[in-house]
Amino acid sequence: MKHVSVLLHETVDSLNVKPDGIYVDGTLGRAGHAKYLISKLTTGHLYAFDKDEQALKESRENLKDVLDKATLIHADFSRMKEELHARGVEKVDGIMMDLGVSSPQFDDSQRGFSYRFDARLDMRMNQEQDLDAEKVVNTYSEQELTRILKEYGEERYAYAIAKAIVKKRTIQPIKTTFELVDVIKSALPAKELRKKGHPAKQTFQAIRIEVNNELGALQKGIEEALDLLDVNGRCAIITFHSLEDRIVKNTFKDYSSAPFVEPRIPLKVEQMEQASFQLINRKPILATQEELDENHRSHSAKLRVIERIKG
Ligand SMILES: C[S@@+](CC[C@H](N)C(=O)[O-])C[C@H]1O[C@@H](n2cnc3c(N)ncnc32)[C@H](O)[C@@H]1O
Repeated sequence: MKHVSVLLHETVDSLNVKPDGIYVDGTLGRAGHAKYLISKLTTGHLYAFDKDEQALKESRENLKDVLDKATLIHADFSRMKEELHARGVEKVDGIMMDLGVSSPQFDDSQRGFSYRFDARLDMRMNQEQDLDAEKVVNTYSEQELTRILKEYGEERYAYAIAKAIVKKRTIQPIKTTFELVDVIKSALPAKELRKKGHPAKQTFQAIRIEVNNELGALQKGIEEALDLLDVNGRCAIITFHSLEDRIVKNTFKDYSSAPFVEPRIPLKVEQMEQASFQLINRKPILATQEELDENHRSHSAKLRVIERIKG
């Protein structure tokens, strides 16, 4: 399936790109956002991260005519400060992130992200890392599995599914996506199986988030991004589920709130410390009806933007 970038113009345009500015794309994917941002640069430069080697390989090809304006980096965006400092970059003018798994990752039947294809239980964005879905499913304790399914999948039947996984793997290891789907189905009451939506959706989401440490990377990534921003620089993040959105919303809120001052301490207005950031939009930006009609992935997308207003 073709990969269509979500909230493409809304995200890049929200950064007010300066032709000579320095920008970061934390989630290069197939370079949809990156290519549009680069089209606005003259002497500026884009540093683009992805932890998936396949994404970088295809984007290198996709961006071959503009590679003088881009540096592609195989690393987690939670390490962007270190990676940029190593390249002599201390401050940047804008950062964007389009979180989660890309359509090409979901649609690659070999990667094990999807319950629609039978594949080895992999789900790693970064194929060089050790932890994969097979390890999570076959070595985590029943308690750990229950917690992950509850927290990362918001799965009502977390305990029943975790119990069924542990029971099954004592007979033989669970190695494929379809084997896992069967175990999940065996743990759910018949009325759940009759409901709309795939019964394995939440469990697959939960395991994928654990394998890729998606929420931990996001929290650290946002903090690094906001530290790197120069005055007037902006950070724009697209999320796809409530767990991600909560992290972005709360972190942006903390950074854009003035530091707490004990109300009994008498301070003049000029003595009060102002926040270093301001929210550009209080409510998240959502896809237009036109985009919703064209791209299924855009239904759950929410864009939030913040700007640094002082150093
Ligand atoms: C939704 S896609 C991005 C699509 C891209 N904006 C485009 O227009 O083609 C997300 C990409 O970010 C990568 N990714 C997710 N989390 C990451 C992280 N913590 N560090 C680096 N890359 C990450 C994934 O491997 C995937 O390729």
